[in-house]
Amino acid sequence: MATASTLPPKTNGSLPRVDGPLKVSGAAIYTSDHNLPGMLYAVPVCATIAKGTITALDTSRAESMPGVKAIYHRGNIGKLFRSAPATGFSGIIDERRPSFEDDTIRYYGQYVAAVVALTYEQAIAAAKAVKVTYNAEKPDVRKHLEVDEKPHVDSTRGNPDEAFASAPVKIDETYVTPVETHNPIELHASVASWDGQSFTLYETSQAVVNHRGVMAQMLGVPPENVRVISRFLGSGFGGKLWPWPHSLIAASAARNLNRPVKLVVTRDMMFQNVGHRPRTQQRVRLGATADGKLVSLMHDSLNHTSILDDYSEGCSEATAYSYSTPNLRATSGLVRRNVGNPTSMRGPGAVPGLYALESAMNELALKLDIDPIKLRLMNEPQKDEGLNLPFSSRHYVECLNVGAEKFGWSQRNPKIGSMKKDGLTLGWGVAGASWIAERMESEATVDLLSDGTARVSCATQDIGTGTYTVLSLIVSEKTGIPTDRIEVVLGDTALPSGPISGGSWATASVIPAVSDAIEKAQKTVFKAATMGHDSAFAGQKADDLAFTNGRVHLKERSPETGVPFEQILRKGNLRAASGQGKSEGTFGDPNRKFSTHSFGAQFAEVTWQPETARLRVSRVVTVIDAGRIVNLKPARNQIEGAVVMGVGMALFEETNYDPRFGAPINRNLADYMVTTNADAPEIDVTFLDYPDKVINSLGARGVGEIGLAGLAAAITSAVHHATGVQVRELPVRIEDLLQPSRRVNS
Ligand code: MOS
Repeated sequence: MATASTLPPKTNGSLPRVDGPLKVSGAAIYTSDHNLPGMLYAVPVCATIAKGTITALDTSRAESMPGVKAIYHRGNIGKLFRSAPATGFSGIIDERRPSFEDDTIRYYGQYVAAVVALTYEQAIAAAKAVKVTYNAEKPDVRKHLEVDEKPHVDSTRGNPDEAFASAPVKIDETYVTPVETHNPIELHASVASWDGQSFTLYETSQAVVNHRGVMAQMLGVPPENVRVISRFLGSGFGGKLWPWPHSLIAASAARNLNRPVKLVVTRDMMFQNVGHRPRTQQRVRLGATADGKLVSLMHDSLNHTSILDDYSEGCSEATAYSYSTPNLRATSGLVRRNVGNPTSMRGPGAVPGLYALESAMNELALKLDIDPIKLRLMNEPQKDEGLNLPFSSRHYVECLNVGAEKFGWSQRNPKIGSMKKDGLTLGWGVAGASWIAERMESEATVDLLSDGTARVSCATQDIGTGTYTVLSLIVSEKTGIPTDRIEVVLGDTALPSGPISGGSWATASVIPAVSDAIEKAQKTVFKAATMGHDSAFAGQKADDLAFTNGRVHLKERSPETGVPFEQILRKGNLRAASGQGKSEGTFGDPNRKFSTHSFGAQFAEVTWQPETARLRVSRVVTVIDAGRIVNLKPARNQIEGAVVMGVGMALFEETNYDPRFGAPINRNLADYMVTTNADAPEIDVTFLDYPDKVINSLGARGVGEIGLAGLAAAITSAVHHATGVQVRELPVRIEDLLQPSRRVNS
């Protein structure tokens, strides 16, 4: 029983994941774990060319194979629609063309048909037996990017060209980030069912409400006839934010056959059909005075996109506000390639963008022969000079100073290859981090129940980041109900509408709606407590009551004098007191008064053994200014995970396309390298604790993506410090470090 004797936990506590026991015991049901009665298995047939047309599709042999129920293609899938252009955070899909819409192949692996059979094995066998004839053309998967259309000006001020031309010290370099493929361990999957009128779709989705809206449009049914469920996610990294074609294939097959259909995307298909971070090529020009004051900053970025859809990586996300300079221009352009559509990957825009900008800052510091931290401090802005607005809360300087102290930066000898430890050469590097902080609109319901428990529900998701836990903690703090008596229900469009699990904004967005719902539920209890002549506070005014540690009491008297809320509910024969909460979003607010971002500093140490060309990232110190940290343990865990991913970005990850046939050739976890445990550095995470009340009443901006921002620049700078080689195209390869021609100062 929840009583006043159970003290609520404090914020900044470290509540372990409330969903942890379900996950480690195997009781958490993930999308592909759903097995419905009469369920069939769908396996797509993927194009084996990257450009051309289908001239013939022969399904005759496959159709006669055991267990085959249907083979869908352009001729028989039925009418499917495109999703209308998105407004705000609804209707978003990256690959807008429904599968089988035409006979044109635009990327390798594009779905051309789908087999549905009684078993998965039968479906695979029949999919292999579908004979597709193509008129193949040479695909364009060239790495080097040249803009197709006039670039978009993202931000501009002053006269950057003139200021650059006359600047005493200049940097003009191009930085490249490769295609990276999201590799969550949980494969994308759909389990779709149709009851003659409505769809129930179990999906691997970071955004169930958006998924419902898109699927309703593409399937041609009203949104209330689609329910999307995603209770647990084996992560997504952005790759599961927006729907992909397999969901539509599974749903339409379920409708056509009137039976549930499961479709699980394979690991190799994940490199083709469900997005990737696009290749970026970014020219950064910095002009500075001889003592290091920036006079001009130009950042021109290109990214590849697919033939049909315009995915802009948004590399200049952080460019306009990072540093003070009177003259600046940031542009972005798209280059079309025969690849699947790119999509958001952890820290879209700012992560590749800051790799380029922060690398250029480090190169400028080298050229000026000043400390890279000092260069940053010299160019610290007093406001967001891009938006001409004050920052809601910016503690970048403190991030750099605290990080320098923790890392031991004052011991640094800037001379290349000069620092040694245990027979290894050390390299040290630093870079800044930042990430957009916003709030999305949200609703939530909180029920205070007569058995002394509480239930909080919202159609947002926990993608492995701790949303279940953080909501449990918030409700516990505000009601005094212990977390083991709080049920959190997420990941279902039947619940009150909730935000996407993207942008690291879910926590900041849901907290205000949940807080509102709690207050309303408590008001309902106050009304019940004062209603009628035999209630606990008969004759008192509801407005004079307070709710503390699970007890209702007169505001003017102590909580101990009060009555547990569940007693009040039971007395009135009420099962629950409910509150429906709602909060607004901050996107596109024309009356915006502040620039809202999180900040951070990344310090990296590498070890280098020239004799064996062995490079390791040995140590990372990261200091994060993300407002108030609601739950320290999962927050730290987010940053640690992002740092591990940042090591991969700097040293390992790259999807390579075969220049002849356009296939991603390393489309498996053996050939696509990610950071393993053995590659993970020692990680020291520090959070500054400055609540940002502009974002929400708790002051929490949210954490996740910020941990990846800037890290690759800190690592490549450390690599330069150790080896003398400035690598400007990720990932850093051993070959780069062995080429004497690319060495400087050696
Ligand atoms: Mo994140 S790329 O917004 O899931």
